[in-house]
Amino acid sequence: HAFELVIRNALVATASDTFMSDIGINNGVIEQMGRRLGPGRREIDAAGRTVTPGGIDSHCHLDQPMAPPTKMADDFDTGTRAAACGGTTMVIPFACQFKGQSLKAAVADYHQRANGKAHVDYAFHLIVSDPTPEVLNNELPELIAQGYSSFKIYMTYDDLKLNDGEILSILDCAKQHNALVMVHAENSDCIEWLTRKLEAAGKTAPRFHAQSRPMLVEREATHRAIALSELIDVPILLVHISGREAVEQIRWARGHGLNIFAETCPQYLFLTADDLGIDDSYLGAKCVCSPPPRDKGNQSVIWDALAEGLFTVFSSDHAPFKYDSPQGKKPDGKEVDFKYIPNGIPGIETRMPLLYSEGVLKGRITLNKFVELTSTNAAKAYGVHPRKGTIAIGADADLVIWDHKPVEIKNSMLHHEPDYTPYEGMELLAWPGITISAGEVVWDGTNFYPRKGQGRFIQCDAPTLLPRRVTASQRD
Ligand code: URP
Ligand code: ZN
Ligand code: ZN
Ligand code: ZN
Repeated sequence: HAFELVIRNALVATASDTFMSDIGINNGVIEQMGRRLGPGRREIDAAGRTVTPGGIDSHCHLDQPMAPPTKMADDFDTGTRAAACGGTTMVIPFACQFKGQSLKAAVADYHQRANGKAHVDYAFHLIVSDPTPEVLNNELPELIAQGYSSFKIYMTYDDLKLNDGEILSILDCAKQHNALVMVHAENSDCIEWLTRKLEAAGKTAPRFHAQSRPMLVEREATHRAIALSELIDVPILLVHISGREAVEQIRWARGHGLNIFAETCPQYLFLTADDLGIDDSYLGAKCVCSPPPRDKGNQSVIWDALAEGLFTVFSSDHAPFKYDSPQGKKPDGKEVDFKYIPNGIPGIETRMPLLYSEGVLKGRITLNKFVELTSTNAAKAYGVHPRKGTIAIGADADLVIWDHKPVEIKNSMLHHEPDYTPYEGMELLAWPGITISAGEVVWDGTNFYPRKGQGRFIQCDAPTLLPRRVTASQRD
């Protein structure tokens, strides 16, 4: 029989190997690999081009309700459209519990937001902001069993933050039920204290956001999260690591045999605190995110740590707000003090090309490391491997064929809703030439081919980055 689609002469890259193969696809799944496969109803000649697994953006925020007037600019339609055009074929945004809300109600709300809208497959991490006994004893265990095997917790932000005791209870629950906890590590009290000092001195421009959350604030919380993880004896994944001192904590933990995973994001490779402003201009609000971008030296530390294998995943932390909007970076149309600027920057479409061009093509990381960081490890950490995250017989046909060509990033060519990109004017050496989601071309380098509503909710199983926990008696 003929394949629905055959990709010929691909240089296929996985997290472990690079090899020449055709890829035969049927029913959205890779059915056969080898040389000289039979005919396809559609064929793509990838001779001379590299094919990688579609990206998994395992940290992005889509259509997350915010306190008025703030509203995220991307929903599951526009967010997954931008993802697809940037080579990402699965997103794992958050279903965020607000305090007082049942976790299951939060999950139901987010399914409504996603249902019928997504162009690529998706799953959810939970955000636990209110770990009541009901949540810890009933809702979390049930939700984990239903395919929500990861949850994010916050050590800062008034409406989300947990104290150390609450964190311990959540880590214990994750240990009992084989889930992975993602930790946003910044010391809340230090940030509050510094913010008050800056305000009292009239230092309220966007650039002071960076001074209100210096590296030590992240270092201390990173260290504390590691200690809490050690106390419970359960792995954690530290999200959006920004620079040297946090990297040092992670390296120390690894050196002591602790299972600490870590994530970093494009903003810590390509932006610095100067992008928040070198004067009091409000334009710096575009790059206000937490933790803030640091400096060139810290960028190098992050690059080295990526190459060395200290990081598990590379995600966007896409948090889409328009700059010139009362719902975005100018709440109610006003240039506000830094502490009221919605945190986060857009980056779901630029994540893959930035790391491919500046990492792989500029010789900072290998092609296989790129695959591991942008796809394979996320699939393993969040329990969707080997269906996702690799190119293999039986895996979903989620693929990117890369075009090596100069591209100048302009917001006008991107497919997200925000009215800016922090990377405007950057010259890259490559861009996704074709993105294939479940066997269908969704982006061909010029055009986006909507598959609205065809993106499926994917249930996540337990993480497989580590051997499954079994007791000695189970082993014998
Ligand atoms: O500034 C950021 N990163 N906003 C998004 C929320 C988060 O903490 O990841
Ligand atoms: Zn239980
Ligand atoms: Zn965070
Ligand atoms: Zn985030």
